[in-house]
Amino acid sequence: MAKPNDGKYLTTIAWENDGVKLIDQTKLPESLEYIICKNHLDIADAIKKLAIRGAPAIGVAAAMGLALCANNSTCSNKVKMMEELELAYDVLLKTRPTAINLKWGLDRVFEEAKKYDEVDDIRKHVILQAIKMSHDDVTTNKLLGRFGSDLINDGEVVMTHCNAGALATVSYGTALGVIRSVMESGKKISVIATETRPVMQGSRLTAFELVHDGIDVSLIPDTAVGYLMANKMIDKVVVGADRILKSGHVFNKIGTYQVALLAKAHNIPFYVAAPLSTFDMHNNEEDIVIEERSVDEVVRIGEKRIAPTGVRIFNPAFDVTSPELIAGIITEKGVIYPPFESNLKPLFESTNNKV
Ligand code: MRU
Repeated sequence: MAKPNDGKYLTTIAWENDGVKLIDQTKLPESLEYIICKNHLDIADAIKKLAIRGAPAIGVAAAMGLALCANNSTCSNKVKMMEELELAYDVLLKTRPTAINLKWGLDRVFEEAKKYDEVDDIRKHVILQAIKMSHDDVTTNKLLGRFGSDLINDGEVVMTHCNAGALATVSYGTALGVIRSVMESGKKISVIATETRPVMQGSRLTAFELVHDGIDVSLIPDTAVGYLMANKMIDKVVVGADRILKSGHVFNKIGTYQVALLAKAHNIPFYVAAPLSTFDMHNNEEDIVIEERSVDEVVRIGEKRIAPTGVRIFNPAFDVTSPELIAGIITEKGVIYPPFESNLKPLFESTNNKV
């Protein structure tokens, strides 16, 4: 797989030989297998079944999906090709509702397509744009990782929830990018990963990639967070985000809110690490759809049913953490501190950062 990083860390997704190669995360941690997507429907399917997941990763996947659509198109004029791209855009956008990176990735590629008149130019430039986005993702993660690294001291124990690592991005990660950057700076730290029921991104993915990189990690049940915090076993919390509003409200994996509340109660700094592509400066909390996933994720562990038939199930995949619980938001432009509403504004004033 073409590696947009230095090859040291897992690469989750890459454009390769007119296709998109991605790690099949449904197979982890048992085996590291890849899926080759040949068209945008393959990509949509991979996103829906969580073969690829994590906000920045699905943003790049969707961008590459649109690029595949253009690459496969046999249209001979721009109008027809834009119609095809619009249909693919809608299919990809509908795969998951909460992470804004998905729309961000699609918009970037769609806007690129609009700039050219000839179909060959559209094809060429949307592919280049999607590949560039995958490379930029790694650069961004390394930048934000370095800013985050300054917040963590030698010898500290850092908790994370879900997976905001190489597997949730193209490579390196956001929250785990901070961890990797701390390690690269020579400080020694250890990580506590929550299991993250019901899909187990913490145990299946975070523990996997940290073990893969030789980073000290311990796994705990989600229900042990309060116990560890009360017993002073955690110094800092760093999580990722699926969408951050201008008010500083953070949408992230279900359970994040509980972790943030507990961190506040125990005076443990709670940080969010996310690129600017995760910010939604337009919508309000009530506009955002929290994805509800299949009840099967809750009633089964593997093949085994763990709840009686007939029980009512509620399975929201994300929750909202309010700004007063957050010590800082780590971005590629630096760490943003409260009050978020006024401190975030300058980041989005230049046209380059319009989201
Ligand atoms: O349902 P998932 O696995 O896509 O949820 C992922 C998360 O909630 C991550 O914490 C978030 O996308 C940040 S990834 C850098």
